[in-house]
Amino acid sequence: MGAVTVTLHLDGVTKDYGDATALRGIDLDVEDGEFFTLVGPSGCGKTTTLRCIAGLEAPDSGTIRFGERDVSGLPPEDRDVGVVFQHYALFPTMTVRENVAYGLQFDPPAGSVDERVDELLALVDLSGMGERMPDELSGGQRQRVALARALAPEPDVLLLDEPLSALDARLREQLRLEVKRVQRELGITTVYVTHDQSEALAVSDRLAVIHDGRVEQVGDPESVYESPATRFVAEFLGENNCLDGRASRGVGGETGGSVVTVGEREFEVAGDHAGPVTLCVRPESLDADASHNQFAARVTDVEFLGDAYRVHFDWNGRPILARLDEPLSGSVTLGFAPDDATVLER
Ligand SMILES: Nc1ncnc2c1ncn2[C@@H]1O[C@H](COP(=O)(O)OP(=O)(O)OP(=O)(O)O)[C@@H](O)[C@H]1O
Ligand SMILES: [Mg+2]
Repeated sequence: MGAVTVTLHLDGVTKDYGDATALRGIDLDVEDGEFFTLVGPSGCGKTTTLRCIAGLEAPDSGTIRFGERDVSGLPPEDRDVGVVFQHYALFPTMTVRENVAYGLQFDPPAGSVDERVDELLALVDLSGMGERMPDELSGGQRQRVALARALAPEPDVLLLDEPLSALDARLREQLRLEVKRVQRELGITTVYVTHDQSEALAVSDRLAVIHDGRVEQVGDPESVYESPATRFVAEFLGENNCLDGRASRGVGGETGGSVVTVGEREFEVAGDHAGPVTLCVRPESLDADASHNQFAARVTDVEFLGDAYRVHFDWNGRPILARLDEPLSGSVTLGFAPDDATVLER
């Protein structure tokens, strides 16, 4: 199964709904066998992008290619895509087996349908559940059936639109690993949509952060998290303290980097920067024992997270968030290493 090589390309895809612009020119290149995620806030255009790829929606302009094949004008059934939506759309009056077999009706397997269904049920870890009805399954099991049904006709591309969002947190974490395992086993080119940034970071080979109908940044989870290209990405993927300031080049003291002045305070940062900038420091990069870039801030709130404390500070009227091992109070001197900061031009 899934042995075909399929890359996926979107070039300048736009889509308006009446007066509302959903997509403002989406460019994406997904590699063969890649687990590629579209992540972004509600309404940014993720579902619209996925529906354009599936052929359920026609772009106003731009092209969509699967490998060399321009699929822009093709109806969904000619695109060889498998789709799983957020709300499990299983047929309630059909058994699990019949639901999965439905995925084979237009594309019967060479061998027996029963054997193929058994193979698919085993793949999603539902062996022996074929005779159950959908309402006899848990939410997670239903989503596995939906996944098996989407995979039944051996699609070239698998499209998943928030397939886990109706499930509780623990089950979501379990099932996202499961989805990833199935995807790897089949080596199927996959586009996964979520608004959950931690899910996107956890499962993706690469991800695209979508904002207001545009792609803000594409990359593997680590590099996008560590080097956000825009303030939007810096604040959307994980938490961040973003402070507007002004950078001066080549005055970075011991580090040989630059200095960013925020209010009255000068911070040393790595790299060459000048002019108006936004200084971004992750809550986990702030430390009460840091030897660099110290500043005194007042604790305003403490939240216990289990493995750490999320401590809210006020620094001269600016809210600051730190992830610390201890629940501090009063006035605290925080600091951060120069190369832990991200400096974005404004
Ligand atoms: N059928 C429609 N008619 C009119 N506007 C629409 C339609 N579908 C989507 N939109 C608008 O297009 C924009 C993008 O919607 P889309 O469903 O792609 O967002 P999304 O990123 O999937 O959001 P969510 O995370 O909430 O699912 C939104 O502003 C939405 O209101
Ligand atoms: Mg959506």
